[in-house]
Amino acid sequence: MGFEHKSVLLEETINGLNIRPDGTYVDGTLGGGGHAYEIARRLSDKGSIIGIDQDAAAIEAAGIRLKDFGEKVTIVRSNYCEMKSRLHELGIDKVDGIILDLGVSSYQLDTAERGFSYREDAPLDMRMDTRQTMTARDIVNDYSEMELYRVIRDYGEDKFAKNIAKHIVAARGRAAIETTGQLTQIIRESIPMKYQKMSGHPAKRTFQAIRIELNRELDVLRDSLDDMIDLLKPGGRLCIITFHSLEDRIVKSAFRKNENPCTCPPDFPVCVCGNVSKGKVITKKPILPSKEEQEYNSRSKSAKLRIFERA
Ligand SMILES: C[S@@+](CC[C@H](N)C(=O)[O-])C[C@H]1O[C@@H](n2cnc3c(N)ncnc32)[C@H](O)[C@@H]1O
Repeated sequence: MGFEHKSVLLEETINGLNIRPDGTYVDGTLGGGGHAYEIARRLSDKGSIIGIDQDAAAIEAAGIRLKDFGEKVTIVRSNYCEMKSRLHELGIDKVDGIILDLGVSSYQLDTAERGFSYREDAPLDMRMDTRQTMTARDIVNDYSEMELYRVIRDYGEDKFAKNIAKHIVAARGRAAIETTGQLTQIIRESIPMKYQKMSGHPAKRTFQAIRIELNRELDVLRDSLDDMIDLLKPGGRLCIITFHSLEDRIVKSAFRKNENPCTCPPDFPVCVCGNVSKGKVITKKPILPSKEEQEYNSRSKSAKLRIFERA
């Protein structure tokens, strides 16, 4: 199968990066290389882009997509939370811009055996990095009912989270839950019929929740943002596309904190904490996909782009 992924907010992100043709850029979520391609083609011979992804299939696909750019492009298989040390290994201390386009690619969703999709029957996997040993199967079969409830409620924002967790625990008491098909069936049985027709596929939210938990997506994001801002040269920009309200909240508050890190009580006449602003938030409100993009690419519907510029 080809790597078919429609890049979300492509033009907006590329414009937001304010690309300097001789600059050094990082794409921390390379995927099929859609955004990276648009960056690479705006670079001069002195410019370069480092593409990072933890998924071997993405690395392979991006390598093919970007091969004509030759040495201008360096591809690294890694988690973006290790960006600082990966760049250091390449002799790079500071960069002119970084992008993150979070979540899963269409390719990951469409490759049945990766176990991301509730539309296909496959082993419960959902690992973005297949070098990791824990899979979605372990979460579904080993987490306590309370932990499952928390994950499905917080990361899936599913109002039937409690019932779904209860049904999962009851089902696995009879036999281990091995496949996406079995999990989907259990979720269907946990949600009243009249709601199943109302808000998309009944398993969508639970699958998203388990994927976020398994890949530690929110922790990784939270723990990486300060490092990424520190990696930027003056005027360098960080562009982040999120797909989940909790992701967006993490980005929004990290950007704010870096813009105004002062911890002095508001009634202090002058700042004594000594924390200095690292730059400014360019997007007071997030940039959203146009109506046309939302129609053409339904995956873009929940996307939000936020941009920070280093002082
Ligand atoms: C939405 S896709 C990116 C698509 C890409 N921007 C394009 O236009 O083709 C997200 C990619 O990020 C990768 N990814 C997600 N979290 C990651 C992380 N913490 N570290 C490295 N890669 C990650 C996934 O494996 C996936 O390939």
